[in-house]
Amino acid sequence: MSTMRAVFINEQGSIDNLIYKDDIPVPKVTADSVLIKNRVIGVNFIDTYHRSGLYPVSLPFTLGKEGAGDVVQVGANVTDFKVGDRVVYLGGASYADYTNVPEAGVEKLADEITYEQGASIGIQALTAWTMVRDGYKVQKGDTVLVHAAAGGVGLLLCQMAHHLGATVIGTVSTDEKAQLARANGADHTIVYTRENTVERVNEITNGLGCHAVLDGVGKDTFQDSLAVTRRLGTLISFGNASGAVPPISITCLTPKNLKLMRPQLFAYLAERKESQKWWGEVFDLLKKK
Ligand SMILES: NC(=O)c1ccc[n+]([C@@H]2O[C@H](COP(=O)([O-])OP(=O)(O)OC[C@H]3O[C@@H](n4cnc5c(N)ncnc54)[C@H](OP(=O)(O)O)[C@@H]3O)[C@@H](O)[C@H]2O)c1
Repeated sequence: MSTMRAVFINEQGSIDNLIYKDDIPVPKVTADSVLIKNRVIGVNFIDTYHRSGLYPVSLPFTLGKEGAGDVVQVGANVTDFKVGDRVVYLGGASYADYTNVPEAGVEKLADEITYEQGASIGIQALTAWTMVRDGYKVQKGDTVLVHAAAGGVGLLLCQMAHHLGATVIGTVSTDEKAQLARANGADHTIVYTRENTVERVNEITNGLGCHAVLDGVGKDTFQDSLAVTRRLGTLISFGNASGAVPPISITCLTPKNLKLMRPQLFAYLAERKESQKWWGEVFDLLKKK
């Protein structure tokens, strides 16, 4: 295994900038990393930001931030993994046959969890779970608004907020998506293509607004999100599906004493102990389903 297949970019821009090659050198492990042969990889919105230029990268850049597979080599200082372990990981460059990942970004897969499940719950489920457990600690009786409630992160947020006892309101673009969101824990849905989100949230909450608003849509929804967050509530703007939120004046938080957070998942996973805790909790949720 000296060469492998990979998809990378030499320049950020349109999808035409994606380059596929089958003679890329297999990365070498460092003292603290693990080399993984990918079985399944996750494809995420962040990959499009790395490709388009919304997020900076150093070039050339191999796309992809998560996958599941088998450990084929370990660095000299690695103690928690051995060759042959089934693992899931975040980080690295996963649009490739092999990915070199710092030990802190790798987690073992329990026997009952498939590679497909592992690779599909990483970025999306950890993002959703850190948001409802740390960004805003959802409690029984809360009302939580989830934008793009039928998307990957959105569906998981609906499930998790419902599981934690909240009343969940989801915004979606179509009736079909509304049905999907309701099947995943949304108590109310707003089809924003024909309904006014602010008016509907006010109707549902008797004008109080939501304890937390979880917004991965960004530019198109930010102002509505501010409007429907209740006094002392929390607005978490965690994505840019419609584009990045333009610069705001901090005083927009003042009338209702709002808290505003703009998280990124990887800042929750800097230490191995932290990432083990979050992965452990998400695996437990998966086993309970
Ligand atoms: N902060 C973090 O660490 C982190 C981690 C993971 C993901 N994210 C962010 O979370 C967001 C959702 O990710 P995802 O994986 O759940 O994506 P996804 O499954 O593709 O869902 C995105 C949804 O956003 C809605 N949307 C509204 N305007 C859109 C537009 N102009 N273009 C495309 N979609 C639009 C669509 O739902 P409707 O049709 O119902 O409008 C779409 O289904 C992304 O912005 C992503 O970057 C952030």
